[in-house]
Amino acid sequence: MIIQLRAAGTSLVLDARGPRPAVVLHWGPDLGALPESDLAALAGAAVPAVPPSSLDEPLRLSLLPTVDQGWTGRPALAGWGAPVADLRLREARQAGPREVRLEHANDFLRVTTEIELSEQGVLRVRHTLGCHGTETFHLTALDVLLPVPARAAELLDFSGLWAYERRPQRTPLGHGVWSRETRHGRPGHDDPYLLMAGTPGFGFRTGQVWAVHLAWSGDKRIWAERQALGYGLLGAGELLAPGEVSLAPGEQYTTPWTVAVYSGDGIDGLSARLHPWIRSRTAARLPRPVVLNTWEAVYFDHDPSTLDRLVDAAAAAGVERFVLDDGWFAGRTDDRRALGDWFVDERRYPQGLRPLIHRVHKQGMDFGLWVEPEMVNPDSALAREHPDWVLGGVDGPTWRHQRVLDLAHPGAYAYVRERLGALLTAYPIAFLKWDHNRDLLQPGATHRQTAALYRLLAGLRADFPELEIESCASGGARIDLGILELVDRVWTSDTNDPLERQRIQRWTGVLVPPEFLGGHLGAPTAHITGRTSALSFRFATALFGSAGIEWDLTTASEADLAAVAQWVGEYRRLRPLLHTGVVVRSDGDAHFVHGVVSTDRRRGIYALVALRAAGAALPEPIRFAGLDPGTRYTVRPLTIGPAPRVVQDAAPAWWQAGEVTLPGSVLAEVGLPAPLLTPEQAALVTVEAAPAGQRSSSGASASGGRSAPAR
Ligand code: DGJ
Repeated sequence: MIIQLRAAGTSLVLDARGPRPAVVLHWGPDLGALPESDLAALAGAAVPAVPPSSLDEPLRLSLLPTVDQGWTGRPALAGWGAPVADLRLREARQAGPREVRLEHANDFLRVTTEIELSEQGVLRVRHTLGCHGTETFHLTALDVLLPVPARAAELLDFSGLWAYERRPQRTPLGHGVWSRETRHGRPGHDDPYLLMAGTPGFGFRTGQVWAVHLAWSGDKRIWAERQALGYGLLGAGELLAPGEVSLAPGEQYTTPWTVAVYSGDGIDGLSARLHPWIRSRTAARLPRPVVLNTWEAVYFDHDPSTLDRLVDAAAAAGVERFVLDDGWFAGRTDDRRALGDWFVDERRYPQGLRPLIHRVHKQGMDFGLWVEPEMVNPDSALAREHPDWVLGGVDGPTWRHQRVLDLAHPGAYAYVRERLGALLTAYPIAFLKWDHNRDLLQPGATHRQTAALYRLLAGLRADFPELEIESCASGGARIDLGILELVDRVWTSDTNDPLERQRIQRWTGVLVPPEFLGGHLGAPTAHITGRTSALSFRFATALFGSAGIEWDLTTASEADLAAVAQWVGEYRRLRPLLHTGVVVRSDGDAHFVHGVVSTDRRRGIYALVALRAAGAALPEPIRFAGLDPGTRYTVRPLTIGPAPRVVQDAAPAWWQAGEVTLPGSVLAEVGLPAPLLTPEQAALVTVEAAPAGQRSSSGASASGGRSAPAR
């Protein structure tokens, strides 16, 4: 059969007539509803020429290409113990309106492939391999490969470091493989994250883009390949160490889902499909509360009276959740000891956590607690009592003075499960910040460790359905769509420096919707970079996510505290928009604009961000993407607390007037002159559909005071 799946401007056409492995004839823009006759004609016409010095029959790029098919690129299936050859299509059926199930097999192996196209236009593909011979099959690779056309000639993926996650990197795709492999036992700070292939120069709102992501928190490989023969593809799969997955007869292995998206209108078009799809399936509970996290305020110095003052200051600012970070458990006085000993420290908390939680509740907030359940310090009662639970034994290299607890060990798993359950039962804990601060570095253990983690999280969620969990891994080293099915929030990065955060949030947000991305208001001087930033810049940055505070508010001035309270109020007012809307971004280097527009396109909020000095005295006008061209909108500056710093003898006329009303088409194409922000400043602007019948108003005709030149 030939199958066409269509949704949200995307379609996939699959030639599953057999007996050869099925072929994806098209993945990309919607082709319209093709009748069977057209699909058959397409399948027939798509058979390529036979080039010289090649196989004597046309070579197709199948869904499961292997060497015996003539495919000399990276194969989809590899291993030993049974022949990886002669796969034949045994069954193809449409399992739902946009779901297909295929079965390919030889005498020893059977691969079941599930393909789903969501109504939002997101494609998910995974394989299940069953061993049906008489010998054990040792799997080395089972990957999902999807074709991309020759015009997808430029790649964009990510690298990064601790506190500098998701640094984009672009490269042209020539002949060969651009392959990224991660062996951290977690995605890592340098996670390739989302591999995009697009028409050269594709941007946030321009170009055709095809992208893949692996929904998995362990090791992976993700790659793009273009063969001298001409075929191009994107591939993804779990990176398996030799012997990591061995299937005895009758056993099977299921790959993680590969999530694939096509957009005809740039990177924003990827987000426009991914965000609503993620929202439709995952658990982020709205509204996302304003958090105060104690880490950068007190580190390991858990002095009850300091914490009490912090609780009071948080409540006065309007915070809704108080999160006690690292340092609360037995003997944890620094990062060298006690991980694994998940009992409240009696010295610092002689009456347990109850008095602190009581104060938090009395102040109208709920309570969250930091844990790092997959880890153990050699200097801990746990490691001393159960050295056999330590992954790799007690002599392996430490990292942040810690080792990994072998969650695949039933005793270790049961201990962690019991400890977490006991804490969650003993105390009214609304939220766990679940940290993971080192690489695994145990070849062959990642698959089972990741599977055990997922089981642990799923079990806790089932037993404590009200509990919310945040995935943190030294900041943003474990952000993927596998874990996102099991948590409510991710800690985007350890840096609270707004300049770094602007870039990190911008790129992390291509895949993950803003309401999942923890972003905190840090101290005036960022602890990690030492850079001092204006309060308004910190406000404008932390607003666009799941907002919180990570600043010792007991040291803040009265004026700053009043501004913080105002900011919290604005966040609470705006979060229904920020956490359900469509994210839009402009390309830009020195300056960029990003925003969120409500799904009905009646309102939006935008930020103009000056990363550094503009290239021109008058920077590019602010263009408002994502609005309805035929609707008139009133645009107004939004100032929270101190105004951003500008150097201008007079502000743009519309800014002075305080508002302007214009059609969406004008705002998108002509835009509005930008205020002259100094570097590391951001200005906020709201947009609201004007009542029907309201005529355009022009800020240019307004009179207004000259804004104070800050020279
Ligand atoms: C690393 C996290 O990313 C930080 O936010 C903090 O929780 C520390 N660990 C605590 O040890």
